[in-house]
Amino acid sequence: MSPETGGPSAREPITMEDLPLREDLRGRAPYGAPQLEVPVALNTNENPYPPSPALAAELARNVEQAAAGLNRYPDRDATRLRADLATYLGHGLGADRVWAANGSNEILQQILQAFGGPGRTAMGFEPSYSMHPVISRVTATEWLPVQRSAGDFGIDTADAVAAVRRHRPDVVFLTSPNNPTGTALGLETIAAIAEAAPGMVVVDEAYAEFRREGTPSALTLLEEHPRLIVSRTMSKAFALAGARVGYLAAHPAVIDALQLVRLPYHLSAVTQVVAATALEYADELLGQVKQLRQERDALVEWLRECGFAVADSDANFVLFGDFADRSAVWRGLLERGVLVREVGPPQMLRVTVGTAAEMSAFREALLQVSPEQLL
Ligand SMILES: Cc1ncc(COP(=O)(O)O)c(C=O)c1O
Repeated sequence: MSPETGGPSAREPITMEDLPLREDLRGRAPYGAPQLEVPVALNTNENPYPPSPALAAELARNVEQAAAGLNRYPDRDATRLRADLATYLGHGLGADRVWAANGSNEILQQILQAFGGPGRTAMGFEPSYSMHPVISRVTATEWLPVQRSAGDFGIDTADAVAAVRRHRPDVVFLTSPNNPTGTALGLETIAAIAEAAPGMVVVDEAYAEFRREGTPSALTLLEEHPRLIVSRTMSKAFALAGARVGYLAAHPAVIDALQLVRLPYHLSAVTQVVAATALEYADELLGQVKQLRQERDALVEWLRECGFAVADSDANFVLFGDFADRSAVWRGLLERGVLVREVGPPQMLRVTVGTAAEMSAFREALLQVSPEQLL
C-alpha cells in the first residue's frame, strides 16, 4: 500500500482489475483461439500453403527496397495498394472506392469507430464471427444478436428485414460465407436488408474466394447501395495472415468517413509493399484456392458418408457434428496431433481445410475418436 495515496504501490503485484479500467471492459477475457504447437493445426482458417519460393524471393527483394526508405513515413493513403486491390476486385472499382488496413479486423474496427459508438447499435446474425460483437463492445457500440435459422444456418429474409425495421441498428453485419458455418447468403437477402437498414450494412466476405461456383459476391450490389460495405482480407485466399492486410470496397463517401478515424500512417510501408507484391501473384495463389475448394468438397462428402451432420460450406472450413460431447472429440483429436476449433453450435466442431496430407491425418484421427460420440 502506498502511504500517500492509499492505493497499491508500484512495487505491489496488481491485476488489471486494480487499474482504472473502463467499467464495460471489466471481467472480459481477450479474444483468441488456443495457440498450441501441434503437427496438424486446423483451427484458425489459415491457408496451409506458404508463399512459393518465387513469391518469397520477390517479397524479400521488394521489402529490401522499401527498407532503404523506412526513415520516411509511408504513403498515408496507400494509393498504389488501393489501386491494385481495386483492379483485383474488378466490378469497375477504382482506388477511391477501396480502403485498406491491418487485417479486416482493423477495417471492421474503423467502420465501428466511424458509424457505431456510444448510444449506437450493431446487429449481427449468429452464430457468426465472434469478433463482430467484440469490436462492437470495444467501440462502445451496443450489440444486437439475431439468430440464424437452426437447420441450415441461413438468414430468413423476411425475419431479418423485420428485425432491422424493429431495432433500426446503425450497423448491420452480414457474414457471407459465414464463419463458423460456411453458409453464403443470396443477393436478394443482402439487398432486402440493405433496403430496410437505416444505417450501414457490412458484408464480411473474408472467405469470398472460396465460394462455390455460382455463389455471388455482394460487390455486385455496391452500385445501388451507397451505405453498403464489402469487407475482404488477404489472410485467407492470399495466404498472407502473417502480414495483416484487410480491405473494403464501398462508396467514396464511406472511404472519406473512414479517413476521419484511421490513425495517420496506419499501414506500414512494409505491409503496403508486401500486399502489392502478393497481388502480383494472384493467379498462383488463387490456383491453390481452387485446390482447397476441391479438398473442402471432398471433405464434406466424406463426412456425410461417415454419417456426420455437415453444414454446406462456401469457405475454407467445415462445421460438422452432431456430437454428444464435442469437447471429448476435440481432446481426442488433439491427443492425435490434430487441432480443430470448438466454436458455433454446442454439438459441432469446425475444421479448417488443410493440405491433402493434413486432411488424411484429420480423417484418420476422427475415425479413431468419434464413433461413440455421435448423437
Ligand atoms: C469472418 C471473418 N472476418 C474477418 C476476419 C479477420 O481476418 P483478418 O483480420 O486476418 O483479415 C476473420 C478471421 O478469421 C473472419 O473469419
